[in-house]
Amino acid sequence: MGKDYFRDRTGSTPEPLDLWEPIVIPREEIDEEVERLASLPQPANGRRRSVFVHPRNQKSLGLAPGIEVALDVLKPGERTVPYRQNSTQVNFVIRGQGSSNVDGRIRSTSLYDVWNTPSFVPYWHQNTGSDLYVRLTYSNAALLDMMNVHYVEENPPPRAVAVEEKMTAEDKKRRTSPFGSFPLNDEGAWLMPYEILISPPSVPSPALFWPWKDVKSHLDRLEALGKDYLGRRLYLLYNPMTGRTNGTTPNFFATMTIRPPRIVDRPHRHTSAAVNYYFHGSGRSTVEGEVYRWKAGDLMLSAPGWAVHNHASDDDYVYELTVQDQSLNIAMESLLWQESLKMPLAVLGVDEGFGTNREAAE
Ligand SMILES: [Fe+2]
Repeated sequence: MGKDYFRDRTGSTPEPLDLWEPIVIPREEIDEEVERLASLPQPANGRRRSVFVHPRNQKSLGLAPGIEVALDVLKPGERTVPYRQNSTQVNFVIRGQGSSNVDGRIRSTSLYDVWNTPSFVPYWHQNTGSDLYVRLTYSNAALLDMMNVHYVEENPPPRAVAVEEKMTAEDKKRRTSPFGSFPLNDEGAWLMPYEILISPPSVPSPALFWPWKDVKSHLDRLEALGKDYLGRRLYLLYNPMTGRTNGTTPNFFATMTIRPPRIVDRPHRHTSAAVNYYFHGSGRSTVEGEVYRWKAGDLMLSAPGWAVHNHASDDDYVYELTVQDQSLNIAMESLLWQESLKMPLAVLGVDEGFGTNREAAE
């Protein structure tokens, strides 16, 4: 008999994934929650906030296992205290106008603008309009909570930058491996010394801004792609620091999609989970064989990771913001993707990706 921390898995076979159900949170319920938050006395930190939690979630405050979505409300003139944390965020305005200070840079933000908040930079938000200022904030806090490493500070002190200790030449020599990184064998396995392990190449992580009016003008041009076009009419709000993982943050991509009337996507699936916010038009999603209807102002966990799904628009144009934990999955080499159920699945970022018929459709 083993000790309590052993779990016998001898001969255990893989089990099918236990997919969470999709959820549509209707506009009316979001509006009610906004009014409820606005009716509360202003808290000391200025943050009127609710998070959308999936009923199946026992581990974090996520709407998907790795995606937290918060509803943030500020009344006219109100401002939050500064925060900083090691989660990264996609910010999205769904009502009113305000300003956001991220890492000392202040931007005016209004309806459907998107910006990212990098890790561990101070930020605060302010309502500068006469209406409520309402934002959706998507973050990987849910994942970091599960890892028990979500580090958050309110009113953070000025950041101390790690400074190199003063070392004599003799000290330096003693602490530095003379060998650097080098190949161990001709198969490609290397060895890396400690100095490089604790000082990986640093990549500046910018706070970027995608104003809706600029994004929309580019998006509307995608409408010209013919009805036969099999891809999706969208732009990824790309942050170049995420490199080959195609992200808006190192964890998420955010895409803006225009869906012309009566467009039906092909059923497909991916291990990244998708959360959609629809802000124009209406339509339906079919997920694992169940049909879910949605309309402008609804928030939806539309594609739990690996659920087969497709979306279809009704008789009007649909605009939507989609956030997926795709970049993280590319970095982890876990992004299985099946663009059509007739095709084999691929590990995106490792295998050859999928094509569209864009040239034929233009
Ligand atoms: Fe999808």
